[in-house]
Amino acid sequence: MKFARRLDQVPPYLFAELERKIAEKEQAGIDVISLGIGDPDLPTPEPVIAALAESARDPATHQYPSNRGSRELREAASGFYRRRFGVDLDPTSEVVPALGGKEAVGHVCLALLDPGDVCLSPDPGYPPYTSGPLFAGAEVEYLPLEEQNGFLPDLDAVPAERLSAANVLFLNYPNNPTGAVVQSGLFERAVELARMHDLVVVHDNAYSEITFDGYRAPSFLETPGAKEVGIEIFSPSKGWNMTGWRSGLVVGNADVVERYRQLKTNLDSGMFEAVQHATVAALTEAEGFPREMSEIYRRRRDLVAEGLGAIGLNVDPPKATPYFWVRVPEGYTSETFAELVLEQAAVVVSPGPAYGPSGEGFFRISLTVPDERLSEAVRRIETSLQAGILNA
Ligand SMILES: Cc1ncc(COP(=O)(O)O)c(C=O)c1O
Repeated sequence: MKFARRLDQVPPYLFAELERKIAEKEQAGIDVISLGIGDPDLPTPEPVIAALAESARDPATHQYPSNRGSRELREAASGFYRRRFGVDLDPTSEVVPALGGKEAVGHVCLALLDPGDVCLSPDPGYPPYTSGPLFAGAEVEYLPLEEQNGFLPDLDAVPAERLSAANVLFLNYPNNPTGAVVQSGLFERAVELARMHDLVVVHDNAYSEITFDGYRAPSFLETPGAKEVGIEIFSPSKGWNMTGWRSGLVVGNADVVERYRQLKTNLDSGMFEAVQHATVAALTEAEGFPREMSEIYRRRRDLVAEGLGAIGLNVDPPKATPYFWVRVPEGYTSETFAELVLEQAAVVVSPGPAYGPSGEGFFRISLTVPDERLSEAVRRIETSLQAGILNA
């Protein structure tokens, strides 16, 4: 059989590899604690489930939905953006449903990038910012996110010829995997550069609702001029514990929204209407739910910060996201550290390079497991580090 080569260009999806290793250990009867995947452990809020259940009983929802999404969903999204971010969105032309943020990242690349184009992607970054452009035949120019810059990219350090060849700039704050939040000036500079170089800014806002200590994450679309040059991808997955529901939004620049919608009419047949109703319930009736989730993650964050600090790991508690981005102890690489804790402690952490070459020297921990499992994981990491030192 001959397969298309495009899949060979990207490394195997990190979490597929992690899932395989976890399954192997579990089959051998080992109690594995996975802090690798950012998949909320708690249920979707009740009003969202009720809306789905009621809607699924209505036969009118059983046919192909429209790729445009229901008027009700687009208006709910527009209302949410106005209340939450102070951003006005025209529900007719500036909002379209996505089957989750991940789908949107991949398909936005197919809608915007031609072979030979350049895509500016954060490094470390959510892996589809790399696979999406590669599938479109485009080249990826990494934007290193360095600790001394607060894990923000230095947009002015991109070589001039790469900037001129670039068509898309991905940004993502609050950030996966670093947990960093945006600082003033970055979104503004992105708008300026986009105007100068005819770039489309794609801001992935998957984590805006998981924030701590009074921090409120902005929308990129709050930035003056943002809607002229870009879009935002929004998802209820993390804030409303809806990762399994495959719901999301692409909002902002009407031309980009329309192009993305057109592409999707060729690839999928829209979002199940019952899921659209459920998403409306999330954005209206259950609007306050992410604050409750944030409080739970805040408690877990403090617990982990204390635990890791006590065992000598240098941690900077994040202001947003359910992630800790931690430097590996001296003497380890990301990979040898992840191996050590998996083999000796049956704890799964994500090695930094899974998010790009600048992730070397770091690992990511996700707070999406119950408190007592987190405490147990930290205890096990401590024991494995002691064993690692003894074996060294
Ligand atoms: C940065 C980022 N964007 C998008 C997503 C995708 O979310 P979903 O496809 O569930 O909406 C994730 C999931 O982990 C993410 O970390």
